[in-house]
Order: sequence, then C-alpha cells, then structure tokens
Amino acid sequence: LLGLAVLLLYARRTRRRNEPPLDKGMIPWLGHALEFGKDAAKFLTRMKQKHGDIFTVRAAGQYITVLLDSNCYDAVLSDVVSLDQTSYAQVLMKRIFSLDLPNHNLESEKKRAEMHFQGSALTQLCSSMQNNLQHLVTPSEMGLKVSEWKKDGLFDFCYSLLFKTGYLTVFGAEKNNSAALAEIYEEFRRFDKLLPKLKLLKKQISAREKLWKWLTPSRLDRKPERQSWLGNYVQHLQDEGVDAETQRRAMLLQLWVTQGNAGPAAFWVLGYLLTHPEALRTVREEIQGGKHLRPEEKQKNTPVFDSVLTETLRLTAAALITREVKQDKKICLSNGQEYQLRRGDRLCIFPFISPQMDPQIHQQPEMFQFDRFLNADGTKKKDFFKEGLRVKNPSVPWGTKDNLCPGRQFAVSAIKELVFTILTGFDLELCEKNAKLPLVDPSRYGFGILQPAGDLEIRYRIRS
Ligand code: HEM
Repeated sequence: LLGLAVLLLYARRTRRRNEPPLDKGMIPWLGHALEFGKDAAKFLTRMKQKHGDIFTVRAAGQYITVLLDSNCYDAVLSDVVSLDQTSYAQVLMKRIFSLDLPNHNLESEKKRAEMHFQGSALTQLCSSMQNNLQHLVTPSEMGLKVSEWKKDGLFDFCYSLLFKTGYLTVFGAEKNNSAALAEIYEEFRRFDKLLPKLKLLKKQISAREKLWKWLTPSRLDRKPERQSWLGNYVQHLQDEGVDAETQRRAMLLQLWVTQGNAGPAAFWVLGYLLTHPEALRTVREEIQGGKHLRPEEKQKNTPVFDSVLTETLRLTAAALITREVKQDKKICLSNGQEYQLRRGDRLCIFPFISPQMDPQIHQQPEMFQFDRFLNADGTKKKDFFKEGLRVKNPSVPWGTKDNLCPGRQFAVSAIKELVFTILTGFDLELCEKNAKLPLVDPSRYGFGILQPAGDLEIRYRIRS
C-alpha cells in the first residue's frame, strides 16, 4: 500500500517555478527508461531538440535532470556538497560488480590514483608498459612467422593487446604465462559485453565469478607489490577490515576502470586511420620524422597524432556523469538563465552530445576530420566557439575539472605506443579495401569509450 502511495505521489509530480522543463513520458513510473537505456545518445538528442540545454526526465521512478550546456559543467559540478558523487557510484558498484564498500571514499581513491598514475610514478609505469607491449608483439607471442600474413578483427586485436599490456603493468601479472593472460582477457571481454545489461538486471554471471576467483589478491600469480597502486589499494582494504570476498570483487571493479577504455579507444584510432588514407599518410610521415629520436622522446612532439586522438575521443568518449542532488540547488546556465534542481533527483551531464557532437561547436560533428584539432601552422587548435562565445572545452573525454581521469596520461601513452608500434613494426591493412568502420553499439552510451556493433577485418604481418 505504501508503495502504491509513493507511486501515486511520484506520478503527480508537476514542474515548479524555475525548474527545468519536465518530461515524464507516457508510461507510468517507467517513463523514458526503455528509450534511455536502448540508445541514450538518440534519446537525449531528441530531448535536447524538444526542450533545449536543460530538462528533467522520468526513468524508472527516478527524476533525472540532464544538463547539456557545456560551458557551465565545471561550475555546476564543483558544488560537491549539493551534488554527491558517492551514492550513485555505490548503486552501480552494487549492480554491476555486486560490490558493497560502505566506506568507499572517492577523495582518497583519487589521491591514491594521482600518486601512482601521475608525476614521477608515471615515467616508471610508462616504461614498464612499453616493455610489456614490446614483449607481447614479439613473433612468438603473436604466433607469427616472418612475412606471413595473419587475419584478425581490429577490435579484438587492439583490445587484447592493450588489455594484456595494462594487466601486466597495473596488476603486475607474470609475463611468461601467455595462456593465462589470454584466458583472463577472454573472460574479461565476456563480462565487459554484458555490462550494459547488468545495470538493469541482477544476474549471476559466470564470467564475473571466474574473474573474481582469478583476482583474489593472494591468488594472483604475483602478489601486487606494496608500493604499487594495486598493492596499496589491497593494503587499504585489509586495513579497513574488508573481507576476502569483497576484496576480490573490488579488484574486478579496478580491472574494469583501468583496462576497459584504452583498448576500445586504440581500435577507433586505428580504424579511423585505416579508413582515412590522408590521415594515415600524415601520421606515418610524422612518425617517420621522429624515427631518429630516443624511445622516450618519440611520443613527445606529435601534433598530428594528438589531433587524431583528440578527434577520435571526441567521436567515441561517451561517459554519462551522474550526481545525486542532496539539497535543492540553483544553477546558472551560460546565458544567465537560472534553474532550480530538486533534492532527491539526479543530475546528469553527457559531454558526448555537447560539446563533442554539438553542430554549433564542431562542423559536421559526425565526420572524422583528422586535423580538426590542428591550426594552419600545425600547432594544437584550442579555440572553438558557440554563438560567438569561446567554448571552454571542445571535448571532455576525461571527465570534468573536479573529477578528471587520473589515468589519462598513462592511457594516452599506451594508445600512442600501441599505434606507433603497429604502424612501424607491422604491415597492416584492411582485408577489404573499401571496408567502412562498423556502427557503434548503442547500448554502450554512458559507459565510457564506445564499442563497435561489428568489427573491421584486418590482416597484418611483421614488417621485414
Ligand atoms: C576515472 C575516462 C583510461 C584510471 C575516469 C573518468 C573518466 C575516465 C571519464 C571519470 C568518471 C566519472 O567522473 O564518473 C577514461 C578514458 C580512458 C581511461 C576515456 C581511455 C581512453 C584509464 C586508464 C586508467 C584509468 C588507462 C589507469 C591505468 C581511472 C581511475 C578513475 C578513472 C582510477 C577513477 C575511478 C573512480 O572514480 O573510482 N576515467 N579513462 N583510466 N580512470 Fe579513466
């Protein structure tokens, strides 16, 4: 009865003065949940066309205010008292990773990650990553004979290489067990594919169970070193009295956070290059120009590649950033208009729609233009405008100011290393000369880097 009363109360919600336009959808309680979950980009673009840069929708009993005015993202999200990140993160941890960490403190996690993924630790990490990748592309590891072509799907090729590189580097796994490495990648992919569904369904999944087993800190083939990010994290969990079962569930969360995005991003970079000959030729020339440099210098001055990567991330980075509104709050859009957010609702920003795919900021936003982020003189282009106003961030792949991905420099370095290694050490081509990039899997909107609905068939051989 109480449930019914709450339901009726919710159904009666009306828009108050100064609140964003309210769109409850036709279905009671469920509202727009199905359309939102099926293809968030399509749904939110439709809502933006209907209501503008801010609106509130109902989805599965929850009221979600969506803000799409990119020039005010940083200012709005900086109020961490009214807009809480932890509670929704806890919900997702529970649903996707079946993980309950009541004392999870995002601030201290952020500090730990910054300490281990940035500054002087980053140099060490990148050099270990380079060694691991070089090991993985040796002919014996790849099962290749000199001058022999091998066929593969580009997505799997990139994802497996970067996942394994990252797992060896961040999880400190043993290099010599290729079979175990291949197995953990396969299981991770099985789990990763289910991710969009897990948000909705509570399911027992065998891939997740297997990964938990493998990731038990004491059972990892080499225990993470105390001073590493992972070792430090495990130590912290133990100090907090977290039981062994929860520890291994937490490890899977960290595996996904650290290994779930760079591989797919590398796929899109190479996919765009292979399907855009001028871009590929220009990147090859740039790599060729740096051939004489020492390995640690090779990645430094690469404006063309940097533009290709920024453009790729603009087209494929699609995280949905969510906060719980803890108290009523007034927010101000960049045109000066003020709106009231209601306590108990959620606030979402979706940088993929704006700024990244905003036709007022980027001309023909759905097109890949490898030099979009280059000035005529070859330097990095930073100035983009909307309605005469400079856009603060023309692309937001790494999250907003207060919550930037702490692994971003490491991710860029790993993607660069992979692409440079493949383009210099291998002949790589499309099996079908005029093949097109596959479409994106629409259920991945909201989960970070997008994944393709199909794959791009390639063949490769070691360059003689
Ligand atoms: C958080 C993007 C790769 C470590 C985030 C967030 C974004 C992001 C948008 C913030 C999410 C939010 O505010 O809710 C990316 C992209 C990547 C990438 C686009 C690759 C192309 C990596 C890598 C590592 C890493 C390689 C580490 C080796 C982290 C960590 C967090 C994070 C530790 C914090 C997670 C938390 O809030 O608990 N990343 N990331 N990321 N990322 Fe990345």
